[in-house]
Amino acid sequence: MPDSQIGCYGTAASRWAGVGPYYAMFPVSFANEAVKEYTKPGDWVFDPFAGRGTSLFAAASQGRFGLGIEINPVGWVYGKAKIETAERKDVEERIRWLGQRSVNYRADAKRLPEFFHACFCPKVEEFLLAARESLDWRRKRADWTTMALLMIDLHGKRDSALSNQMRQTKAMSPQYAVDWWKERSLEPPERDPVDFMLKKVSWRYAMGCLGSGSGHIYLGDCQSILDRWRNRPPKTKASLLLTSPPYYGVTNYFYDQWLRLWLLGGPDKPCSPGEPCKRKFENKKYYIDMLRHVFEMSGSVLRDDAVVLIRTDARQFTREATIESLEFAFPQKKLRSEKYSLPDFTQTTLFDPGSEPKGEIDLVMW
Ligand SMILES: C[S@@+](CC[C@H](N)C(=O)[O-])C[C@H]1O[C@@H](n2cnc3c(N)ncnc32)[C@H](O)[C@@H]1O
Repeated sequence: MPDSQIGCYGTAASRWAGVGPYYAMFPVSFANEAVKEYTKPGDWVFDPFAGRGTSLFAAASQGRFGLGIEINPVGWVYGKAKIETAERKDVEERIRWLGQRSVNYRADAKRLPEFFHACFCPKVEEFLLAARESLDWRRKRADWTTMALLMIDLHGKRDSALSNQMRQTKAMSPQYAVDWWKERSLEPPERDPVDFMLKKVSWRYAMGCLGSGSGHIYLGDCQSILDRWRNRPPKTKASLLLTSPPYYGVTNYFYDQWLRLWLLGGPDKPCSPGEPCKRKFENKKYYIDMLRHVFEMSGSVLRDDAVVLIRTDARQFTREATIESLEFAFPQKKLRSEKYSLPDFTQTTLFDPGSEPKGEIDLVMW
């Protein structure tokens, strides 16, 4: 690690906050500042579109509690591993166990589609298949933590990931990737996956971890979970709603994460699930109805004096739909908006196609 980064990673919180690569995530500093400014120790922070759990972790690492919902299993596993982290020895034991089981997957690995042979060396393919079949990531703490740590470097730069050259946040489509590697004569890197993962675990845990007891993140559609909570709301009420909803027409979180979703048991190629909340949010009426529904139902989880802080796309449709939905859901609160103009921090830069202003806007209600 370069000397310049030693100071940055000198605490457990700084090492775990970055778990893991996910498109459109909050900057950690933004979530930390929001939690510090609008809550007190012991308060709860609610995030219905929790992504990789940045806001929940910001709460947990500052003596607050996080309550979140996320529909994409990739984001959920990261969030779960951050706020309910397994002990280091249990994760190391899991990795060695997967290494032993890998030999049973030699034949299955050979039968994987061409993309996998061009992306991973055979030992890594076998290890990934063992993890895919054996980790009970929905139920066991050691398993969701191991899975989260494995997903981080599943793909990324060839010299530091398990894969051939890829982006880290978004998986390329299989045919595009294979052609791209062939044109450049790029072979998958040779890796011993057990050794590789144990080194990653060693770095991640070097300053400790937060452990557990500082929050919950639920896997599912926040619309149906909030509907269920209307009749049986959680005992605790949050004093801050801190979230960033999916932006209108910008990205498909399921399609872009297809390789990590494969590792979690999904199909071996990109595909878009049928439900509109798992797609790219291109239907204006659906988008507005969804925001109204989620903000209105969030009231059952919030204290009357809760602050609402929404970071969203500054472009016209998303901005206006969000403001309208917030005013509908919280008619008794005042609204202030701040254009977030630091280009380095923008969450959508990569995919912003248009002429409209780039960047995000923060909408605060109190
Ligand atoms: C802009 S991202 C939030 C990123 C998050 N702030 C972070 O730091 O990682 C929006 C998230 O909302 C999730 N999402 C979209 N529709 C949802 C729904 N109906 N219920 C729960 N999560 C949903 C997406 O999967 C995506 O992870």
